[in-house]
Amino acid sequence: MNLKIRKNKDFIKNSKGIRRLVAVSSYTAIMAKLIDDYVDVILVGDSLGMILYGYDNTLSVTLDMMINHGKAVVNSSKKAFVVVDLPFGSYQSSKSQAFESASKIISLTGANAVKLEGGIEMSKTIQFLTERGIPVFGHIGLMPQYFNSYGGFKCQGNNQYEEDKIFQDALELENSGAIALIVECTFENISRRIAEQLKIPVIGIGASPYCDGQVLVAADILGLNMDFNPKFVQKYENLSIKIKEAIFNFSEDVRKNKFPKNEHCFIKN
Ligand code: KIV
Repeated sequence: MNLKIRKNKDFIKNSKGIRRLVAVSSYTAIMAKLIDDYVDVILVGDSLGMILYGYDNTLSVTLDMMINHGKAVVNSSKKAFVVVDLPFGSYQSSKSQAFESASKIISLTGANAVKLEGGIEMSKTIQFLTERGIPVFGHIGLMPQYFNSYGGFKCQGNNQYEEDKIFQDALELENSGAIALIVECTFENISRRIAEQLKIPVIGIGASPYCDGQVLVAADILGLNMDFNPKFVQKYENLSIKIKEAIFNFSEDVRKNKFPKNEHCFIKN
């Protein structure tokens, strides 16, 4: 039996004030194997629609896609706490729709929790899921599934009304039983206020160092997309250049008949 020594829900909840949580959004078996030792949370985010499938936003991502990638990540990681996103349209219409989708994700992938976007309007749904054994990460601030309502991807909390709304959303999601909260692209003072007030860990992306942890997308950390340079990303590598170089060198070798060499061939004695 493949015994997993995963971080559990209590590890995540109890991290507040003890350790900074490290979360990375990634979706494939090969990446899960590479990062498992170094992160607390692997988020199988619906950003996979843009990163892996080339969509313009996350709205066309399906539940089946999330389940397939969720399975790949769970099967290829041992330690990390795995969270899978509920995609757009799979949870907003009713609490029972949310339970049906979330229970499929949990039972078919083996993930530890689901994540869903939304503030006060989703609090009853979060309560419904948590009371039925499904741990939930909330996601507020910039919520990419609200792309059409925002008219694009924009930093949230521009005026006092928006600021108070995001803060109230955070309080409400904690009260409804969310085990952690992702806060995306909000002004520093708002995420600081939220992180100071909440008892559950607040994990930021573009939301200041005052959060209890940070999340970035693996492809962004690794610099896989030369055209994507938002303010909140630090590229720790520039793999796009290295990949291009490697494939260029391979193509040159093939064209000049320098590959394969004898050591790559099966030669009968
Ligand atoms: O989909 C995703 O990868 C996310 C993170 C960026 C927080 O939601």
